Amino acid sequence: MTKLTQSQTWKALKAHTQALPHMRHLFEDNAQRFNQMSTSACGLFLDYSKNRATQETLSFLFTLADEAKLESKITAMFNGKAINTTENRAVLHTALRAKPEQKILLDGLNIVQEVQETQLKMTTFVDAVSTGIWKGYTGKTITDVVSIGIGGSFLGPKIVSQALKPYWTSKLNCHFVANVDASSITEKLKLLNAETTIFVISSKSFSTQETLTNTISAKDWFLKQGGEHKDVAKHFVAVTSNIVKATEFGIDADNIFPMWDWVGGRYSLWSAIGLPVALLIGMKNFQALLQGANEMDQHFLNAPLNKNMPVIMGLFSLLYGNFHDAQSHVVLTYDHYLRGLPAYFQQLDMESNGKSVTLDGNKVDFSTGPVIWGGEGTNGQHAYHQLLHQGTALIPADFIMPLNSHNPLGEHHVQLASNCFGQTQALMQGRNYDEALDELSGNQLSTDEKALIAKHKVMLGNKPSNTILMDKLTPSTLGSLIALYEHRTFVQGAIWNINSFDQWGVELGKNLGNDVLNRLKSDIDATALDCSSNGLINLFRQGKI
Ligand code: F6P
Repeated sequence: MTKLTQSQTWKALKAHTQALPHMRHLFEDNAQRFNQMSTSACGLFLDYSKNRATQETLSFLFTLADEAKLESKITAMFNGKAINTTENRAVLHTALRAKPEQKILLDGLNIVQEVQETQLKMTTFVDAVSTGIWKGYTGKTITDVVSIGIGGSFLGPKIVSQALKPYWTSKLNCHFVANVDASSITEKLKLLNAETTIFVISSKSFSTQETLTNTISAKDWFLKQGGEHKDVAKHFVAVTSNIVKATEFGIDADNIFPMWDWVGGRYSLWSAIGLPVALLIGMKNFQALLQGANEMDQHFLNAPLNKNMPVIMGLFSLLYGNFHDAQSHVVLTYDHYLRGLPAYFQQLDMESNGKSVTLDGNKVDFSTGPVIWGGEGTNGQHAYHQLLHQGTALIPADFIMPLNSHNPLGEHHVQLASNCFGQTQALMQGRNYDEALDELSGNQLSTDEKALIAKHKVMLGNKPSNTILMDKLTPSTLGSLIALYEHRTFVQGAIWNINSFDQWGVELGKNLGNDVLNRLKSDIDATALDCSSNGLINLFRQGKI
């Protein structure tokens, strides 16, 4: 048993949650609930009143945070303490968006200086490409950028570029290659002219199989299209912490943008990993993205717990996972530009908190990271909202919506908002049997038939949701929003006392995959494996089932 679940607070909160009335009654009994359970910061507004909670619940949760020494853990992260204990690394993605005058010392070095130098290198590159100064090997200006990377080296650039489409200042076409499936890169290369294409190879380790394989294929394509080895420097740049491997690979040293061990892949979009974003929206907008995240950092570091947006959201997520057995959490973005955000939060949260031992190596006796999923509203209403409303699982939901659209058109936005708010209301209040029966009163069905159908129409409600609003989706509010979720993830890991910043669980699959690769590529007898893997290998070798 861990200390956490044995604490008086944990036990008292368990009993408290089981005695809470339905949210309907909490709203009926308190007309001030919305005003009391909403807060704003960094251009974002959070309505957390549609949660299974009273002020007493919140008090228990804040006590849990205090007992876990959350505030000192937050300070430790910002100050560069090696909180990633299994890799003995600091966790300083916050330094990537620090103000130039800030000092963050790591091993005696002010790392903000390195960050600023890298941003200057990014600015020079972005300006050269966007003004046409940077030319391809036949003297033509660049028209297409291909970003090759996977995980945090793909999701950030891809999803942030998509989210900030209204802010694209360049005419560049941008393509993203991540999967090792040749169909991905093949489909992109079909569209491209080697003379006017630049490849951004993004890989913190520069040893990820998919990224290296895609880069080799891109280079082969480039040479087959007429480029020569001497021309590679004009068409390939890299973002990596492994400068040696990148230069060995043939990337010109001048074309390598550094990143650092104190930045986790899923927290790296703020570094030169964000280069594809900067190429599309320009460095001024990229700096605004960083500024928004920095504002959320300052809020997280300084706001009292009961006004601290990431703390409130992190505690509610922990409440549902640990006290209501919620196994997943859904993120619903009622904005077309934010349609990719749930996938971004998947890696951010699930690769951070998908752990099962505490820092001291003891097995946890509580649930940790939930499955994060979601999609674009209103589309989800016609796909999986049925389960959210009437399924057996409790799935807390975050609804995210800008109050103003980049594309005002007739009734579109007011309808989007009505759906967003209507869904949170339906999840909260549900529909009881009498209301269902009443809705059938004008129906021609018999009394027995009405009684039966009414049972099928009952919706329990009491389904929790947060609603996050912003005036408009801008680089700054997007930066704040993503940093909000980064810190929301941190809060949960800190209270669970797990390491949210390593990812040992992804190593085994990679290593076994490399062993299988050798068997697939040769006639090594696969009998050493289980008969399923052995059978699959043999079928692949045959090329037919
Ligand atoms: O999924 C494991 C992981 O290491 C992620 O954390 C990372 O974002 C991704 O692979 C890509 O790693 P790299 O940037 O080193 O190629």
